[in-house]
Amino acid sequence: MVAAMISLPKLIHTLSSSSSSTKTITRAISNNIITLSKKEKQKLGLVKEKRRTRSDKEFDKDSIIERYGSSSHIPVMLTEVLDVFSSSSSLNSFVDCTLGAAGHSSAVISGHPELKYFIGMDVDPVAHKMAQARINSVLHSGDSSVKVFTMLKNFRHIKSAIIETGEEKLMANGVDGILMDLGMSSMQVDNPQRGFSVLGDGPLDMRMDPQASLKAEDILNSWPDSEVGRILRDYGEESNWRTLQKKIAQARLTGGFHSTGDLLDLIRRVTPAARGGRQGWIKTATRVFQALRIAVNDELKTLEDSLYSCFDSLAPGGRIAVISFHSLEDRIVKQTFLDIVKGSEENVAQGEGCNSDLIKAIDEIKEKEAWIRNVIHGSNGAILTKRPITPSGDEEKLNRRSRSAKLRVIQKI
Ligand SMILES: C[S@@+](CC[C@H](N)C(=O)[O-])C[C@H]1O[C@@H](n2cnc3c(N)ncnc32)[C@H](O)[C@@H]1O
Repeated sequence: MVAAMISLPKLIHTLSSSSSSTKTITRAISNNIITLSKKEKQKLGLVKEKRRTRSDKEFDKDSIIERYGSSSHIPVMLTEVLDVFSSSSSLNSFVDCTLGAAGHSSAVISGHPELKYFIGMDVDPVAHKMAQARINSVLHSGDSSVKVFTMLKNFRHIKSAIIETGEEKLMANGVDGILMDLGMSSMQVDNPQRGFSVLGDGPLDMRMDPQASLKAEDILNSWPDSEVGRILRDYGEESNWRTLQKKIAQARLTGGFHSTGDLLDLIRRVTPAARGGRQGWIKTATRVFQALRIAVNDELKTLEDSLYSCFDSLAPGGRIAVISFHSLEDRIVKQTFLDIVKGSEENVAQGEGCNSDLIKAIDEIKEKEAWIRNVIHGSNGAILTKRPITPSGDEEKLNRRSRSAKLRVIQKI
């Protein structure tokens, strides 16, 4: 109550001089014992800086549905991705690491008649069928003379994919654009037989690559208890991981898990009612499924390794755009980009190791391309999204799958 009578200058002084008073006052502000305006909070450094840039692009749902159909996979942040690869220099070669139904790729191909080489990679044969049909229809209706290579390959093998094309120019010079649109496609989530969805009953599979040997069922039924707990904690960020680990170990003694329904039943029983009823257990189930999927597909290690390989595979001036869907992925993209341009966020931000010609060159690009806001300069590349770009409000409303998307872009110098 006494704190409520403190004037703003005194508050600023107190906050900067004593860490214990800082905690007390900050708590009082968040409990509304002290009320401050947003400006005052900003002055005190109490407003969290928004660590993203919301896209201001229009999301035209009707034309998207006309192009992709309402039931199939709608590409996320399509306009933003097209902007990234529509820089002043021409796009001669492009690799889509996560081809899916070729939603992004078909638009890149039709928007770039100058494109000479296109490589599309995906580990899922179902995606390939859809992608090939869509790419063929774009090729027939346009004037593109692009050479298309689609490969059933993990993107961690991007370098061997480029070699496999046998195209000397690509091997010698590198590629101009690379896209990664991480996570699952709607085709995968909507098919209960793949085991990705918390909403349907199906086998505990969760493999993106049906040829891979490890399934979610193997983890639940035979990995050491402590490893199961670890993935729930680290990959699912699930606070109730200890209880879940214990109950999973107990369930093994009575036959184990054979379907997503078995796992969902356990989660439903274990999640305390205080956690918000159906909403609560579905949220827990979503985190558990995320953890299992990441482990089954070794997603985080694959992502990190692949980002380095992708950067190596770029031609000078080439760009990588990555769309991620959860904080673990986004953190890896952010950190790996920083590591590629060498160093911590602070010294890279100060342009350490980066000469003034490079800074000037990137500043010129920034002037030409309105979507680029804040850049992080490095000695061998520049991060064109100091903060990730997130979908426009309209896209979030009209395509729920886009809600957690974050787009980050790096350019090789
Ligand atoms: C979100 S979807 C891509 C959708 C695509 N951009 C579109 O617009 O149609 C992600 C795709 O990446 C594939 N995928 C995930 N991890 C992969 C990996 N490590 N290597 C290759 N493909 C992968 C999945 O099988 C899935 O088809």
